[in-house]
Amino acid sequence: MPYLSPALNVMIAAARKAGRGLIRDFGELENLQISRKGPADFVTNADSRTERLLIEELSRARPGYGFLVEEAGAIEGKDKTHRFIIDPIDGTTNFLHGIPQFSISIGLEREGHIVSALVFNPVTDEMYVAEKGHGAYLNDRRLRVAARSKLPDILVASGAPFMGKDGRDEFLAELNAVVSATSGMRRFGSAALDLAWVASGRFDAFWERNLKPWDIAAGILLVREAGGVVSDLNGRDSMMEGGHVLATNDALHKQLLDLLHGKS
Ligand code: IPD
Ligand code: CA
Ligand code: CA
Repeated sequence: MPYLSPALNVMIAAARKAGRGLIRDFGELENLQISRKGPADFVTNADSRTERLLIEELSRARPGYGFLVEEAGAIEGKDKTHRFIIDPIDGTTNFLHGIPQFSISIGLEREGHIVSALVFNPVTDEMYVAEKGHGAYLNDRRLRVAARSKLPDILVASGAPFMGKDGRDEFLAELNAVVSATSGMRRFGSAALDLAWVASGRFDAFWERNLKPWDIAAGILLVREAGGVVSDLNGRDSMMEGGHVLATNDALHKQLLDLLHGKS
């Protein structure tokens, strides 16, 4: 059984409640896909409603903690040592298109370090949690990153910059290197779940540039607690500030840094 701190229990309860709402919204979307206006406004509303609900639930249980959330941004709390970093729907484009690959991501930061993490896909009911120093779990199962160590054997995930995002040229060069050297590449559309899937060994590695703290706060702890390595694309620990991420196992880390830099 996973060790769940009281704070993580609170996060799980909030995510389950928000998840029930998202499942209802996801069901409604089927009707909206065929309407002329499409489901975009509906999804924007679902997004903000979920964010508000999570803030309400977590504030009730932990009054005074601050927040860093996608829409409302930074919300200062009286307690300056704790804040929740939240993405209410990571994978909005999937959600909008009725694709069941999206998640609620919540990281709890204490004095600048993420200590508890949760990534929850309400459709598949996969609840990924980690507590610093106590391992990472999918529901009740302890997670380990995959052990593959040779590039030709590995499956790598990434995120492609879409309209309005920076870094297309870098991404295409990196993609070219990765598809030439590995057994496959996936772009599933939720960075938080991509990281959770590295933690669970489904993916051997994940890299992406220009992510936001709420995309990765929880996923980084999941991967590390599953025995993996997470760095920026220069091997440093600046993911939360810079937004560039490489998550994999120890044996592949240097090989992938070199590959992404066109060195192999
Ligand atoms: C996005 C997803 C996606 C990643 C994008 C993010 P959103 O978050 O994590 O996988 O490639 O960079 O912005 O917008 O769905 O919350
Ligand atoms: Ca996101
Ligand atoms: Ca989002």
